[in-house]
Amino acid sequence: MREDGRVPEIRQYRAADRDQLAHICLLTAAAGGDASGVYSDDSLMPEVFALPYVEYAPELAFVVAEGDRVLGYVIGVADTAAFVEWWKREWSPGFAARHPSPGAPTGHEPRFTEARLVEAGTSPERMLIDELAEYPAHLHIDLLPELQGQGFGRRLIGTMRAALAARGVPAVHLGIDASNAGARVFYDRLGFHELPSSRPRSPLLGIATGDTALSG
Ligand SMILES: CC(C)(COP(=O)(O)OP(=O)(O)OC[C@H]1O[C@@H](n2cnc3c(N)ncnc32)[C@H](O)[C@@H]1OP(=O)(O)O)[C@@H](O)C(=O)NCCC(=O)NCCS
Repeated sequence: MREDGRVPEIRQYRAADRDQLAHICLLTAAAGGDASGVYSDDSLMPEVFALPYVEYAPELAFVVAEGDRVLGYVIGVADTAAFVEWWKREWSPGFAARHPSPGAPTGHEPRFTEARLVEAGTSPERMLIDELAEYPAHLHIDLLPELQGQGFGRRLIGTMRAALAARGVPAVHLGIDASNAGARVFYDRLGFHELPSSRPRSPLLGIATGDTALSG
């Protein structure tokens, strides 16, 4: 229950949620904080870390919403290798046309530079981690600040794990920004563990999709 008496609910993503989902991605993309204006084009982050997912696998996208207002989401793919192939074929050409090269400097100096972000838009092979056979799925989760700390993150991860388990996917992984300390504590609390190819500068975590009642 929120102050205004409304209760946000978790539901399946709908096409009409697309713009709000992209905006939430932007508002949480700077190690969990607002990345507006950090890059020359605010559409870059969502075009790499949110929109391809809902285009490719809308059935594995869930939002927290109050009516039509979206407050948070979890998005993912069941088979990362297949997603990489789709991305090369279907996503890279349009991305390259929209973002042929990094734009003008913004005065910000993010560790994940605009050059790397633009490159990421056409190099999905970066997602082919060594542990893909055991952890074929991956996900991203982002909640607006007003929704954080109320258990919705835990519930969204549980929803995604259950949806993946129902599709026969054994385990899921994710990468986090090493400077996002809050997210690291969150994943630890939920029972995620570090994968062998995890590195201090680019932590890689994983968890089985089953037993969601225990830790999800
Ligand atoms: C990280 C995030 C998904 C967590 O979701 P949330 O709804 O705020 O977390 P929950 O309320 O479900 O918390 C679940 C547990 O994690 C802990 N936790 C969550 N965020 C935490 C934080 N920032 N610091 C410390 N502990 C935290 C909670 O205390 C809770 O522990 P408990 O249930 O064992 O008592 C959310 O805060 C968020 O979207 N942040 C901004 C974007 C982001 O960083 N996304 C992740 C990118 S990898």
